Amino acid sequence: MKHLLLDINIVVDACTDRDSSVESVAAIAKAKAAGVALWVYAGSVQTLEYVLASELVRLNAKKGFPPLTRLHAARRARLLLANFCNKTSWLAALSFEGNVFNTDDPEDEQLLLALERFPAGTAKLMTNDKPMREKSPEKTVTPSVWLTEKNQAAPIDFIDLKTQQNLIRPNLEISIHRVLHHGQYIMGPEIRELEEKLAGYVGVKHCITCASGTDALLMALMALDIVPGDEVITVPYTWISTAEVIALLRAKPIFVDIRPDTFNLDPNKLEAAITPRTKAIMPVGIYGQCADMIRINAIADNHGIPVIEDAAQCFGATHNGKKACNLSLIGCTSFFPSKPLGCYGDGGAIFTPDDALADKMCQIRIHGQKIKHQHPLVGINGRLDTLQAAILLEKFILFPEECELRAKVGKRYDMLLSAIPDVKVPVIASGNTSVYAQYTILSSDRDGLGQKLKAAGIPSVAYYTGPLHLQGAFAYLGYKPGDFPVAERVAAQCLSLPMSAYLMAKDQERIASAIV
Ligand SMILES: Cc1ncc(COP(=O)(O)O)c(C=O)c1O
Repeated sequence: MKHLLLDINIVVDACTDRDSSVESVAAIAKAKAAGVALWVYAGSVQTLEYVLASELVRLNAKKGFPPLTRLHAARRARLLLANFCNKTSWLAALSFEGNVFNTDDPEDEQLLLALERFPAGTAKLMTNDKPMREKSPEKTVTPSVWLTEKNQAAPIDFIDLKTQQNLIRPNLEISIHRVLHHGQYIMGPEIRELEEKLAGYVGVKHCITCASGTDALLMALMALDIVPGDEVITVPYTWISTAEVIALLRAKPIFVDIRPDTFNLDPNKLEAAITPRTKAIMPVGIYGQCADMIRINAIADNHGIPVIEDAAQCFGATHNGKKACNLSLIGCTSFFPSKPLGCYGDGGAIFTPDDALADKMCQIRIHGQKIKHQHPLVGINGRLDTLQAAILLEKFILFPEECELRAKVGKRYDMLLSAIPDVKVPVIASGNTSVYAQYTILSSDRDGLGQKLKAAGIPSVAYYTGPLHLQGAFAYLGYKPGDFPVAERVAAQCLSLPMSAYLMAKDQERIASAIV
């Protein structure tokens, strides 16, 4: 069980010392220790205050204390409730749950309806209410039954998005509902607000949000007028989008091998790949740290070639004090949910200091449209949804601190794993900070290690096991095994471990002991 919705009688138990309190308090403590999320239904606040105040009056009289006025009892109830509910999460009351007056017990009905929002089998209502238990035995649990149930170790998520969501849930809900009410689903005011905030954060004049990280790269290439037959240099060890967008424009992806330490483009091998047809270079900041952009830019500048940084995985990271996406002519990022800054769907952004390019990319984003129904350029439907912008605005508030937390989680992993034989921990290049989009180790027995972790209930993922030069989609380029030995070795040995800003030390210790 991952979620417990607390019925009014349980909250009242937790706020008083009546007979049933001991069991309820113990059950709540047991659930918390097991990492079970505790919820109080926001639609119950008035009843909670009323019932708790009445109970305080009754208990006061029972103990023979001077009478407690209703007014004082209500005030005390509010204080107790505020204190208790600080340690739980509010479960929003949705309008659908107002439609319960056709039932015998609207309040119970609301709780049961709210419970249905959780994925099947993951949530129960904790209650001592007998009729409720009888009506829905499989959806409810009493504190005493809960106390007899076996505690299972909390599962470790590969990427934990829930802890963050619980921290900002009330603000997320307000922001989402604000969009539902204003109704500007396309290019609503949240888009501009987000673009201003992101541009300020990165330190670049223009931010153009878009529908995905893939579209960000595509729009950047389109803005640079990449046409069939042009060559664009990138790496063979990355998510396919980076090379896919080059091929989409009928240009030719030219791969350059990666460095064995950072897994990013090896600048020593760049010069040899440049030809008169090279029209752009697209380095990737894989797993959370930027490529060696200073050297890459220097080589590109020598040849007058623009650099597009694929910062889908390293947004928030720094390179010699400057932020990712502020390191070349165009920086692109992704807001895919699992990215360091992710939304709840697809999303992306492009950054550039160049006014003309920014203007062009804004046009490309809306079908090449400059003014309504005038299309001087061919473009795409590349807009970010207003709803995603609203979500990102709330998540962005936490983002700078989360980057620091991610660095701490990375350091803790380093300490726990660096002495283990046949485990190579990530190397962060000097002058770089990493946001650890992934914490990726190398092992000569990668698959065995993955199995070992799985047996211990710990998820892990091997990313990009087929480097791009060997993918069927790029067979026409004529590359063969052995062309990019570093990328091939990393692809065969890499394993990413659970990673999130809120990964706890005790979970990292559990992961490390499963690896040893
Ligand atoms: C390196 C890299 N580039 C580009 C992308 C594409 O981003 P999106 O999934 O938002 O299209 C990703 C996403 O996984 C990525 O990791």
